[in-house]
Amino acid sequence: MESNDDIFEVLRRYTAGLSVALGYRDLMTRLHSERVRGLSEAIGERYGLDEHEVSALRMGSSFHDIGKIGIPDAILLKPSQFDDEEWAVMKRHSEIGEDIMLSTGLEGAQQAALVIRHHHEHYDGGGYPDGLSGVAIPICSRIIAIADSYDALSITRSYHNARNHDEIMEIMRREAGKTFDPQLVEIFYEIIEHSPYRAA
Ligand SMILES: [Fe+2]
Repeated sequence: MESNDDIFEVLRRYTAGLSVALGYRDLMTRLHSERVRGLSEAIGERYGLDEHEVSALRMGSSFHDIGKIGIPDAILLKPSQFDDEEWAVMKRHSEIGEDIMLSTGLEGAQQAALVIRHHHEHYDGGGYPDGLSGVAIPICSRIIAIADSYDALSITRSYHNARNHDEIMEIMRREAGKTFDPQLVEIFYEIIEHSPYRAA
């Protein structure tokens, strides 16, 4: 019987291959995912997640956007703002990512797949794909949502310009209890100041 660590290692290697594939289409997403993993792990560690949750967090954060591999180039690489229809297609990436993770059939994949499915849920229920709220959203997905938003706001995208650290923290503060779990935002304040991923 393989240990839990071995199963996650197989899963990590399998998905890392896909991540490289995604990087060939969209390098920005791959680099972003690496920073989101670093930030997520720091939050999870400070929060005191158990070993099993840490494994799911590591998988979920590294590959949260792996489903973008299924988004057409015309949308994935579009240099201008999305219309409603394009947003609807883009939003499918969380469910595609869940599908990809589940397709490995490995034991640890189920938890990681759920984490990926829910990484765009909002604490107040206003997110997607299921409109879950509060603690109904997996803890790892709530953590990734914070790390993902912080990093996304720090880089220039087709739909917004890069913001500096103070501007981003202002948004994070405003969204605590709405988009983000307020308890986790408190933890984020503590870790981001000394993080190598802190924006300028
Ligand atoms: Fe995403």
